[in-house]
Amino acid sequence: MRYPWFRLAVFLAIALWPVYWLYQAWIFALGPDPGKVLVDRLGLGALILLLITLAMSPLQRVTAWAGWVVVRRQLGLWCFAYVALHLVAYLFFVLGLAWAQLGVELSKRPYIIVGAVAFLILLVLAITSNRYSQRRLGARWKTLHKLAYGVLGLGLLHFLWIVRADLKEWAIYAAVGGVLLLLRVPAISRRLPRRKNKRAFSSNKA
Ligand code: HEM
Repeated sequence: MRYPWFRLAVFLAIALWPVYWLYQAWIFALGPDPGKVLVDRLGLGALILLLITLAMSPLQRVTAWAGWVVVRRQLGLWCFAYVALHLVAYLFFVLGLAWAQLGVELSKRPYIIVGAVAFLILLVLAITSNRYSQRRLGARWKTLHKLAYGVLGLGLLHFLWIVRADLKEWAIYAAVGGVLLLLRVPAISRRLPRRKNKRAFSSNKA
């Protein structure tokens, strides 16, 4: 396994946030509505993780360090885990498991439908993120996983619908997402400064 310490550091850094937030809720450090704070933090955490996941390939191209793409799958799965926890926290703390209220909630907060579509796409991406699916789907796998950008668009729309008037924070995430999307355009991606991977270079010369 390559870069085991980097993988472990990424794993711990991301796994410990929800544990810390639960601890804060436990010691009453999250204010009068801790459930709502947990929902928000997990939602924002998921969006940030999605942006970080999508930044891994451009980072690898610019720095020639293979470690970035080694943790890409882990990051994507963590994004899915955060969204799943965000959904569970919403069902427990906001909906209070009052299923009869779900219809009213969806008409009152249509942004939940947008979030749910993004969640379902992420579920498909998480299920097909393994090597077996990669082999079975062949070239279609790459096309399918480009849907991560669709998830980003839906996540940003979901967030925009919530913040509405106060656009400052939203605009920062949207700008980062926009830059990452632009970096996928072949004409722009070709112009990125690239550092040569020394190992690949020396093995080519040999
Ligand atoms: C079934 C799926 C989802 C449900 C039920 C859901 C529900 C919610 C709810 C109830 C809120 C709080 C709204 C408020 O403050 O009044 C919220 C906030 C948020 N959600 Fe979701 N969401 C879902 C999926 C997603 C996904 C896929 C993403 C991103 C990838 C996401 C990112 C966010 C963000 C960034 C916020 C705002 C956090 C903040 O205000 O700091 N959500 N969501």
